[in-house]
Amino acid sequence: MSTAGLSTPFKAEFDVNSQEFSLSGVIRPRSIEEIAVNILMLKEAIDQVRGVLYINVRRLVQMNNTAFQAFARVVLDTCQTRPDIRFVIVTSSVVGWTTRMFEHLNRIEPQITIEVYDSTFYPGQSFVEDTSFIPILRTQTKMTWRHERTILPRHGMRSGITMADICCGIGDFAVLVQKEFQPARIVALDHSKASLAYAREVATGFGIADIEYTYGDASEMLLEDDQFDFVSCRHSLQIFNQPEVLLAELYRICRPGGRVYVTNEKNSHCLGEPRSQSIQWTYNEVAKLFSHFEMDVELGPKSRRYLTDAGFDDIIVESFMVTNLDGDPRDFAEVITAWENVYAGEMAVKRGDSPEFIQRFRQGFQDHIFAALHPKGYAGWPIWVASGRKPL
Ligand SMILES: C[S@@+](CC[C@H](N)C(=O)[O-])C[C@H]1O[C@@H](n2cnc3c(N)ncnc32)[C@H](O)[C@@H]1O
Repeated sequence: MSTAGLSTPFKAEFDVNSQEFSLSGVIRPRSIEEIAVNILMLKEAIDQVRGVLYINVRRLVQMNNTAFQAFARVVLDTCQTRPDIRFVIVTSSVVGWTTRMFEHLNRIEPQITIEVYDSTFYPGQSFVEDTSFIPILRTQTKMTWRHERTILPRHGMRSGITMADICCGIGDFAVLVQKEFQPARIVALDHSKASLAYAREVATGFGIADIEYTYGDASEMLLEDDQFDFVSCRHSLQIFNQPEVLLAELYRICRPGGRVYVTNEKNSHCLGEPRSQSIQWTYNEVAKLFSHFEMDVELGPKSRRYLTDAGFDDIIVESFMVTNLDGDPRDFAEVITAWENVYAGEMAVKRGDSPEFIQRFRQGFQDHIFAALHPKGYAGWPIWVASGRKPL
């Protein structure tokens, strides 16, 4: 993981309503006295809770042994005297050492359990973090780039800026931006280890060494506040089940006066001729299928509302249509094949759909491909681009 730009100040907080004691940042005291006030806060928290005390270490970047022993002592001693209290220590794979370190306490005391928050933290995670999702990302960006490269400058992209591509997937957008616009710095963050491994391979293949690929959770990033001129988040607000939480984080890391750029779809508006009805039916079903897994692939036209509610000003919204007439129609067909494989081959199966439904569902994708490759056919996939400025 890249460590540049990580937030480091140490903070201990207690929220009585959620019965949650949180530790974040870097804590490296030379003696216990230096953290006496934080230890006292933990003891007071224990006195106030009933049932379970959650100890959130999801943003704990570093902790030395002195601090670990001091906090662990309080928790272990409490287990001896208060059999009525359980401790749930909430870690994150983003700071993987916390799980290994705190798991040790569970082996000593069964009253202490460890939960790795981001092992199943949003309903669509198992699909989008799988290697089978990679062909979707690879084929999509190939098609959208010819539009976005001319759109981006209207939304604040220019050379020399610092930018972050959050939920970067396989990082191809970052590579294309690097080549076309030469920003001074690019951080590209995602929570899919499979996609990031692919991204690093692609960048090496292109001889690009200066994109900072980072493993992280976009809803709780370790990146500092107010540091990027341009923050992009493409096709991802629609994937995560709490888009407003992601937006709040994008806002936080953007510098005042900088812009956040998002792209999203409205899948039910995919279209094609001939065979429009079958195509229309399938993409209406795509929207329902995603919604079953708490993903909103109809989010595109809602972007203006999301950006407004998140506090941005100077909001710009535009849309474009990827079509079979953009270059080689086989590239368009490849996108649809990748969708069919994951949406009908995995997601519909996981939802428990009948073979008859899946057959009809697949037919719409096949008809979209037919329309794309037909000498007189037309096939489209609409996308909404929106950006907002973080007020000065
Ligand atoms: C549809 S893909 C889009 C990827 C890329 N932006 C693109 O357009 O090709 C959604 C991406 O969001 C990532 N993602 C979703 N929720 C995330 C989170 N909370 N933290 C980090 N990445 C997340 C997934 O791993 C996936 O790579």
